[in-house]
Amino acid sequence: MPENLTDQPATRPPWPSWNTLLEKAELVKDSPLRSHFATSPSRGNDFTVQAAGLTANFSRQHWDDGIKSLLITLAKEAQVEDRIRDLFAGNNVNITENRPALHMALRGSAGNKEQQDQIRACNERMQMIAKQIRSKSWKGFRRTPITDVVSIGIGGSDLGPKMVVDALLPNQENPIRLHFVSNIDPSDLEGTLSSLTPATTLFIVASKSWTTLETLTNAKAARNWLKATAGENTDLGNHFIAISSKPERCLEFNIKEENVLPMWDWVGGRYSLWSAIGLPVAIALGWDKFEELLAGAKAMDLHFTSTSLEQNMPALMALLEVWYTNFWGCQSHAILPYCHRLRLFTDHMQQLIMESNGKSIDLQGNQITYPTCPVIWGAAGTNGQHSFHQLLHQGTQLIPVDFILPLNSGAQDKNQHQHMIANCLAQAEALMDGQQPSTEEEVSNTLTHHKFIPGNRPSTIITMKELSAKTLGALIALYEHRVFCSSVIWNINAFDQWGVELGKTISSTIYSAITNTGAISSINNPATKQALEDYSNNTTL
Ligand code: F6P
Repeated sequence: MPENLTDQPATRPPWPSWNTLLEKAELVKDSPLRSHFATSPSRGNDFTVQAAGLTANFSRQHWDDGIKSLLITLAKEAQVEDRIRDLFAGNNVNITENRPALHMALRGSAGNKEQQDQIRACNERMQMIAKQIRSKSWKGFRRTPITDVVSIGIGGSDLGPKMVVDALLPNQENPIRLHFVSNIDPSDLEGTLSSLTPATTLFIVASKSWTTLETLTNAKAARNWLKATAGENTDLGNHFIAISSKPERCLEFNIKEENVLPMWDWVGGRYSLWSAIGLPVAIALGWDKFEELLAGAKAMDLHFTSTSLEQNMPALMALLEVWYTNFWGCQSHAILPYCHRLRLFTDHMQQLIMESNGKSIDLQGNQITYPTCPVIWGAAGTNGQHSFHQLLHQGTQLIPVDFILPLNSGAQDKNQHQHMIANCLAQAEALMDGQQPSTEEEVSNTLTHHKFIPGNRPSTIITMKELSAKTLGALIALYEHRVFCSSVIWNINAFDQWGVELGKTISSTIYSAITNTGAISSINNPATKQALEDYSNNTTL
C-alpha cells in the first residue's frame, strides 16, 4: 500500500472552522429544538427557503443564526461558490477521470456551443422517436404497432427514468405501457416478458459504457425471446433502440444506426436522467412532460448558481448533512416521501448520493478518516410508520430526516390526502417533541419509561404545491446539487465510482471458474473457493 494511504490520513478537511464547529456541536447537543421556537417566534419563516417551486422548512433543525453562519463560513472556506462556478463552467471537476460533470448542460444551464448543438440534435431525435411510438406509427416485425416498451439498464441507466415514469404516469390508460428490467437474475426479464407479445414489444437498451454485464446479458436474452417467435432471419431492427456513449459497440450488437442515441463522457451515469437515458419518460409521458422535467431542473440550477449561500437550498441541505455527519456523529439519513407516487424516489437518491459521496480518499489522494456520506435510506410514508419509524423515534441513533410532501395530490378523494399531510406533520412533530413523563408517578413507573420518546430529532420538510414534472425535476436537481456541495466540503470527488469496479472484476473470474470444468481450484480466496465447491456439489445444472 502506498505510504500516504496509511501514514498520513487526513483526519479532517483543511477548513479552519472545522474545530470551532466541533466545539459548537458539543455545546448545543443537549438544547431542545423547542427552545429555538421559544426564543424566536418567527423561526418557522426565518428558516424556510423557497426555490423552483419547492419550499424547504429547516426550522426543525439543530441550528440558529449563529450555527448557520458558522456553517456558511465553513462553506466559504471550502470555496463552495468557486467550485459551483467550476462545475457550471465545465472545468474538469471529475479529477480522476479528467472530465467535467455537465449534466446541467442537458437542461440548458451550462455547456459550450458544441455540447448544446449535440444535445439539441439528440433531443430532436428523442422527440421524434417518442412521437412515433406514442402515435403507434412505430411498427414491429408483423407491421403492427408497438404497445409495450421494455427499458433494459441498471443503476443510473434505470433508476431515474423508472422513478419519474412511476411518479408521473397518469392513472388513466396510456398509449404505451412501460416496463423496466435491470437485474441479471433471469426472473426479472422473464417475469416482465411473460405478459408481453414479441411482435408489439420494443426494447430500449440503455448503457453508457455498453460493457455492463447485467444490461448486455438481458439485451441478448431479449433478442433471443424475440427470435423464438419471429424466426432467426426476421429483421428485428425496429425492436431495439440503444443509448450509449459507445455507439460503435451498439452497432456491433446489431442495433440499427438510426436507433442509436448518444451519451457523452461529460454526463455521469447517476446524473443521466436528463439525457437520452430519459427516453422512457418521453415515451411514457410525452415530450412536453420531459421538457417540463428539464425546466424544473433548470429552475433549480438557476437558484443554485444565483442565490447566496444563506438562502441557497441545495447548499443549506449540504451544510446540514455535514453538520450532522461530522459534528453530531450521525451515520445515516432518511428520505421519506409522503407521496405514494414518489415511492421509488429514495432508490434513485441512494445511488445518486452514496455512489457519489461514498468515498474515503480526498482530492489530494490521501486516505481520510473523517466520515463522509451517511447511509441513505427510507420509503414512502405512511408505510414506513408501520415499519422502521419506531427506530427513528426510539432507537439509539440520531437519524436526520427529509420529508417530501406535495400539498395537493390531484386525487378525487381529498380526505385521504389530508390524512397524508396530517401524518407527515405528526411525524415531524413527534421527532421534534417526543414524549416525556410529566408527573412524579409517571417518572417512577417503569412502563412509562418504555413509552418515553426523547424527541429532539431533526427533520426538514420539503413541500411543493403538487407533484408535477416541473417540481419533480427541481427536486432531483436539488439533491444533485446538495451532493456536490457536500463533496466540496468533504474535499472528495463526487463524480467517479471506482469502488464498484472491483466486484465486477472478481465476479468475472468467479464466473469463469463456475463455467470451466476444474477451474475452481485456481480460485485464490479460500472463502470463495469453499463456497464454489459447495455450489458445484449442489448445483442442478
Ligand atoms: O456500476 C455502477 C455504474 O457504473 C453506475 O455508475 C452506472 O449508472 C451503472 O453502473 C450503469 O452503467 P452503464 O450505463 O454504463 O451500463
